[in-house]
Amino acid sequence: MENANPYSSLIDPTEQPPFADALAAQQRGRASDQSDAFSDWLVGEDYEIVKIVGQGSYGSVAEAIHRPTNKQVAIKRLEDIFADTEDCKKMVREILLLKALNDCAFTTKILDIIEPPRLSEFRDLYFVMEYVDSDLKKIIKSQLKLSELHVQVIIYNLLCGLNYIHSAQILHRDVKPSNILINEDCHIKICDFGLARSVVGLKSNPFKVRQDIKEKIKQIETDRKVQRHPPLTEDQIKSHVKIMLDSRQKERAAMDRKLSDHVVTRWYRAPEVILIEKEYGPAIDVWSAGCIMAELLQKIQAHADDPHTIKNQPLFPGKCCFPLSPDKNGTKKSQVASGDEENSRKFPVTDWDQLAVILGVIGSPSEEDMSFITDKLAISYIRQYDQKQLQLGSIKDRLPYASEQALDLLQKMLSFNPYMRPSFQECFTHPFFENLRKPELESIASCSINIKEIDSDEVREPLTLSQLKKIVLQEVKFFRNKRGTEGTSHILKPYKPYESR
Ligand SMILES: Nc1ncnc2c1ncn2[C@@H]1O[C@H](COP(=O)(O)OP(=O)(O)OP(=O)(O)O)[C@@H](O)[C@H]1O
Ligand SMILES: [Mg+2]
Repeated sequence: MENANPYSSLIDPTEQPPFADALAAQQRGRASDQSDAFSDWLVGEDYEIVKIVGQGSYGSVAEAIHRPTNKQVAIKRLEDIFADTEDCKKMVREILLLKALNDCAFTTKILDIIEPPRLSEFRDLYFVMEYVDSDLKKIIKSQLKLSELHVQVIIYNLLCGLNYIHSAQILHRDVKPSNILINEDCHIKICDFGLARSVVGLKSNPFKVRQDIKEKIKQIETDRKVQRHPPLTEDQIKSHVKIMLDSRQKERAAMDRKLSDHVVTRWYRAPEVILIEKEYGPAIDVWSAGCIMAELLQKIQAHADDPHTIKNQPLFPGKCCFPLSPDKNGTKKSQVASGDEENSRKFPVTDWDQLAVILGVIGSPSEEDMSFITDKLAISYIRQYDQKQLQLGSIKDRLPYASEQALDLLQKMLSFNPYMRPSFQECFTHPFFENLRKPELESIASCSINIKEIDSDEVREPLTLSQLKKIVLQEVKFFRNKRGTEGTSHILKPYKPYESR
């Protein structure tokens, strides 16, 4: 299954060339002389840098050739890795998670860590990954037109990848177009695990909480079937979810915060993250995947000379996100709207706030939609939007060529209440993916991944830089040993995590 194209028989051959051509053109466009840009890349004799293909907040990524095998690879440079403990922890976590996920067909494989010239003092760390042709941000920004089949294949792949990652008890927490890499054959690879984390060891496991609610709803459905009652309507399901969440309200509100607040890039951030709920979970990645799906659906055109202009707009392009990153210059409308001094001090509302932009598209939430919120002030914050008589934008108007099935799945993935968002199984069985499913791609991890060195609940004291450096050195040595036993072709045989467990 590894790098085979599972969709060659699904993509219409008449459609495939433009997609592959567009990717090739992008690559030619970037191949200008950048030799100066990577003259300071200390990657050793075995690697030759070809060009920079991506810049991120923690460093840059370059396409390179592994000289002994002539294999095309990607090298990520983590700059000044020991400058800041929190940043260092993210970089180390990324390496450990990638290594632990090396068996997944939908994540970028880590192939090597380049040995720094002097282990006693080095600032930058370079790790080598398999090379992937492009990413969804580049595709969305390009003039490329997509068919609905492309969107189906890409989103199905993305959901299969997230299903695997979640089955290992990992939340990605930064699903966005630039972190979803894509090959010519539409096979996707999820990258950038800098914000990801394993939830193994948390007292309240967010995967279990969500699964329990889903299972109870399933049980109610089964009982109704036996009693020959009609299936639950969406509103009835929402009421049941509300009852279950209400019964745990106190416990949820009193929970210690174990997961960081500042996760997911703003436009792809789910309401529960914006509202700083302590118990956010797998549904945050489903929300982000829904945002990506909307961006891809924009790129469908009915026919070649269709006058509808393709937009490259995110669905929810907020400019600030209260309270994590408030709009410092924005008008504090809540002071006018609520008249409640305390709330207005805590929850200023501006038109470009991420939550305002979301509600402008999906509409004001009902009591049931808000049942996951444990903070009363957060509820009154949202109610202020009700008083503003929102102009409800319809998702359908924005995506004129999306099918009914695509819109139905999209709206479900963008449910305000995370417990109403579909599970991966519910997504897979949705009619949007009919005729497309390949059960072998919906595989799950054989065990949970626990990054004990960093994430375990038992680790009380925050890690120090010297402890983190020790972990980095262990990983450097791990790949040195692999090179030692396998020789230069080690790069052709990615590390198999499950074999060593
Ligand atoms: N294996 C790869 N093959 C090809 N290109 C890649 C690969 N990995 C990353 N890239 C490119 O580099 C970009 C940045 O990589 P990545 O997201 O890992 O960096 P980051 O610093 O963590 O980014 P961010 O700004 O999202 O935090 C990606 O968007 C993609 O374009
Ligand atoms: Mg990134």
